[in-house]
Amino acid sequence: MNRRELIQKSAQLAIGVAVGDSLLRSQGSSLLSSPKDRPAAEGFPAKFMWGAATAAHQVEGNNINSDAWLLEHLPHSMYKEPSGDACDHYHLYEQDTNLLADLGFNAYRFSIEWARIEPEKGFFSNAELEHYRRVLEACHRRGLTPLVTYSHFTVPRWFALQGGWENAESADLFARYCEKATTHLGDLIAYSATFNEPDILHLLRWMGSPGGSTGPDIVTTLATQNAEVRRQLNAPLFNSFLSAEAQKSRENMLGAHSKGKSAIKSARGNLPVGLTLAIEDDQPAGPDSRFAEKQADVYGPWLKLARQDDFIGVQTYTRQRVGLKNLPTSENAELTQMGYEFYPEALEHTVRYASQKTGVPVIVTENGIGTENDARRVEYIRRALAGLKRCIDDGIDVRGYIHWSLLDNFEWIFGYVPKFGLVAVDRETQKRTAKPSATMLGKIAKSNSL
Ligand code: BGC
Repeated sequence: MNRRELIQKSAQLAIGVAVGDSLLRSQGSSLLSSPKDRPAAEGFPAKFMWGAATAAHQVEGNNINSDAWLLEHLPHSMYKEPSGDACDHYHLYEQDTNLLADLGFNAYRFSIEWARIEPEKGFFSNAELEHYRRVLEACHRRGLTPLVTYSHFTVPRWFALQGGWENAESADLFARYCEKATTHLGDLIAYSATFNEPDILHLLRWMGSPGGSTGPDIVTTLATQNAEVRRQLNAPLFNSFLSAEAQKSRENMLGAHSKGKSAIKSARGNLPVGLTLAIEDDQPAGPDSRFAEKQADVYGPWLKLARQDDFIGVQTYTRQRVGLKNLPTSENAELTQMGYEFYPEALEHTVRYASQKTGVPVIVTENGIGTENDARRVEYIRRALAGLKRCIDDGIDVRGYIHWSLLDNFEWIFGYVPKFGLVAVDRETQKRTAKPSATMLGKIAKSNSL
């Protein structure tokens, strides 16, 4: 038996012990057991997944072949600061998975980085794929069910330079990457998601001008910024995820999800596949509210596609009151560091909505709050989970709650200012310190009840 076979064998054994149930359940004719099979209990369903999430670019560090790295280092950059070493999770994943397990969690959601795996078009790095095998093995050794996102916003530079998701070839290029990654890693993955929040571009179109001002709206601002990026790079086709034209890129991404899913299934037929969506708790405001139109525009096509998937990932942070567009938050609302209204009840509403629209099992793949005040995070989690429990008690098939985020990490253009982590990270020493919210959520996870 060669080294690779040996690793595969031991990993398969590890899976059998650690997440055997989730995989075995996925091998039956119906993907996973029905919620009716579960006893109604005080607590959450047996085998409920409790975890925290990260995304490669936000935590790994030195993701130099990605579009984001390029943008962060432009002379005139929209990024507050570069990601740099981030949380050095690329090297410290053993420590981070240990931490998750020690806190009491049984699941970890992270993303694999396309820009590392395929740094040049058509060149796939076995060394980087092996790196992610080691991360997956670390999860299994610690009893953490790994949920893997194949694309969390960032793309390889070469892909962005060729038009990103506007490129007619993009779906096929993505599917080829999905096939390579799954062939190498699929036996160790418990749940796979093609995309993280591919609906964001449409979501942004419903935002007004920043702070309710009369200035240009966010879509106009993004277009202006991208023209400036193309000028600086001397790259007329360059598109990052957020700068592509919404309609065209969505068409390609819808195709990429379907093709990516087929590619994943062709490499491992029984691997559950879905996608995750940013879903706001949209609430109608005023007689002319276009909230139903917003929901159809932003989530409609994705929720329709998700009906054929194995699960839907719900990612919710706040509510939006919708008039002709999103309305500014009310003056006395408590705001988080991102300027979102503190409204943990949003999760209950969006989980009900996603379940009702798709009919497939729901996994909460992100929910959290950017704040320096960890006591507010504790309160946010308590109230969000109380709502989630009501969904479950009403028979909604929810499989897990994955908090955003494990670590205080790189919050895109806002740099390291917003603090979403259950765990603080010293920017100089990389030392991790669990916050009270981490202990509190870990305790809930251990007892599987509130
Ligand atoms: C994204 C994360 C981001 C988080 C907090 C989600 O939309 O998936 O990458 O850090 O929100 O803003």
